Amino acid sequence: MNDKPAFLTIQPKVLYFGTPVALLTSIDQDGKPNIGPISSVWALGYNLILGLGCDGKTYQNILENKECVVNLPSPDLYKNIEKIAGLTGMNPVPENKKDKYLYEEDKFSAGNFQSMPAEIVTPPAIANCPLQLECVLQNHYIVESAGDSTPLIASLHLRVVNVRVHENLVINQNYIDPAAWSPLIYNFRHYYALGEKMGKNFRAEV
Ligand SMILES: Cc1cc2nc3c(=O)[nH]c(=O)nc-3n(C[C@H](O)[C@H](O)[C@H](O)COP(=O)(O)O)c2cc1C
Repeated sequence: MNDKPAFLTIQPKVLYFGTPVALLTSIDQDGKPNIGPISSVWALGYNLILGLGCDGKTYQNILENKECVVNLPSPDLYKNIEKIAGLTGMNPVPENKKDKYLYEEDKFSAGNFQSMPAEIVTPPAIANCPLQLECVLQNHYIVESAGDSTPLIASLHLRVVNVRVHENLVINQNYIDPAAWSPLIYNFRHYYALGEKMGKNFRAEV
C-alpha cells in the first residue's frame, strides 16, 4: 500500500479560499454613491483589513473621502451581486478591465439594491444587507505594483465607527446571533451559504 500523502504542487489560477462577500459603499467627490463587491476582508476587534484593486472606483473613493460602509449580504443576495459583478464605477473603464467590465454609474439600480442613510459616515448603506459596518480609513499601503511601479493592489485598514444590524439578528442587546446570521461565502469564485454548525469556541458568550 502507498501511504505517501496525496498532495500536488500546483499554481492555482484562483486563490479565493472562502471568505465572506462584502459590498462596499463609498461616494465620490460629487457625492455620487458606488457599490464595490469584495471578498478580501477580515475583522480583528473593531478593525477591518481589506484587499482592494487600485484601479477600482471604490479604492479611489475611499482614498479621497476616507469613509465607507462595509455591508454584509446574506446568501440570497448573490443574484443581485452577480448583476453588478461585471460593472465598475470607473469611467473610462481601466485598460486591463475593458474586456470583462462595463462602466455603470448607478449600481444601486443595476443590482436592485436599496439605499439607506448611514448614521455616522456620509456614504449610504445598503438596506438589503442585514449587517452594516460604518468605517473610517485609518491607513493604507500598496501590496503589489506593476513593473513600472503602477500600484495594483492595496491593503486598507479601516476603523469601524458604527455598527447597524437588522433587529432579527440581535441577541442579548449587543451580540449578533450566530444561529440567525449567515454570511455569503465566496469560495473559489462560487457562492456558498454556511453549512451545519460544528461547535463553538470556549470564549463564545451567546
Ligand atoms: C464576489 C466578488 C468578490 C470580489 N472581491 C474583490 C476583492 O476582494 N477586492 C477587489 O478589489 N475586487 C474584488 N472584486 C472585483 C470588484 O468588485 C470589481 O473590480 C469591480 O469592478 C469594482 O467596482 P468599482 O470599480 O466600481 O469599485 C470582487 C467581485 C466579486 C463579484
